[in-house]
Amino acid sequence: MKELSRKNALFTDSVIRRMTRIAIAENAINLAQGFPDFDPPKALTDRLAQISSKGPHQYPITMGAPNFRRALAKKCGRFMNREIDPETEVVVTIGSTEAMVDTIFALTNPGDKIVLFSPYFENYHAQTILASCEPVYVPLTPPDFGFDRNVLEDAMKQPGVKAILICNPSNPSGKVFTHEELSFIASLCVKYDVYAIMDEVYEHIIYDGNVHTYMNSIPGMWERTVSCSSLSKTYSITGWRLGYAIAPKHLMDRIKQYHDFNTVGAPSPLMEAAVAGLEMPDSYYVEFQAHYAHMKKIFTDGLRQIGIPFTDPEGAYFVLADISPYLRRGQSDVEFCEELCRKVKVACVPGTSFFRENVNNIVRVHFAKRDETLYQALERLSHIKEKML
Ligand SMILES: Cc1ncc(COP(=O)(O)O)c(C=O)c1O
Repeated sequence: MKELSRKNALFTDSVIRRMTRIAIAENAINLAQGFPDFDPPKALTDRLAQISSKGPHQYPITMGAPNFRRALAKKCGRFMNREIDPETEVVVTIGSTEAMVDTIFALTNPGDKIVLFSPYFENYHAQTILASCEPVYVPLTPPDFGFDRNVLEDAMKQPGVKAILICNPSNPSGKVFTHEELSFIASLCVKYDVYAIMDEVYEHIIYDGNVHTYMNSIPGMWERTVSCSSLSKTYSITGWRLGYAIAPKHLMDRIKQYHDFNTVGAPSPLMEAAVAGLEMPDSYYVEFQAHYAHMKKIFTDGLRQIGIPFTDPEGAYFVLADISPYLRRGQSDVEFCEELCRKVKVACVPGTSFFRENVNNIVRVHFAKRDETLYQALERLSHIKEKML
């Protein structure tokens, strides 16, 4: 039979989602794939119950139900501090994942380059390859995950660079890019005519006085920025698969074309129910952040007590833990994570899924879980030495 696509050889299945399958098989606590085990706000689930009998149940308008887009434009406009046109500057997608894919396809041509920071969210590498583009990696150096401005500029000025893709707040590093850092990146985008593709799914999960700056609010950047985000994390509904992109009309027209043929539209009943989330008052986001700060404290205090070294995040809900004290000679981080899942019954993600650099001693662990789940996971992790060495 004829040869299948060669692109598949350039990426694997998602190791994050593979770890979920292993966690289920091993009956382990899943601190690998980032999703909460607590309920979404009741306003959303109550509304969903009403909709199950009343509808809508049929295809939505492809770019998203009009009332959902209006509520979304209003909510995002409030936080981005600009007026967003729900007709021309918004598209509703199947998670931020689809928003990113549509955007990469709409902005690039085969052979273009996309600048990515490393560590990076696993999806970006595969999405770049799917669009026949080439990733150019710029390191973020632990523990503060800063970047060398000269290295970034050298990457941005390479011939063929079309876009920079930034996760802010960052998965997996927990870095929150400062206004000053984003302004510097913005100046390079303008200087070298590069688009900014922002993944902002953790925009509302920020700790300790850090502030989320939207790239599209930096002078000169609205015209060349696509902000991709979703309701997955902000309203604890990762399974509803509701995401979106916000961009100026001249980019959005192109993004919508890809969305139209990729997925037709996001689920009608879920959009209808999720309007209740988009209409939440500011106090919702304050309480949401406080809840995340609470979970982070339980988890990081616990890790400190056990003696597992980790990086303390400024945003998002992951820590990068250093497993060097528990790694056997010659053992890979992938083998370590599989064994941890089997023996300690806690799932996490091997760092090699996120780093371009040669690291084998880091794992990503998330803490978006109920207090009792976190305490149980910490209790299990307290036996890491005896079980793993
Ligand atoms: C950085 C980042 N972007 C995108 C996604 C996917 O988001 P969605 O559920 O909106 O597709 C995730 C999910 O973990 C993520 O961590």
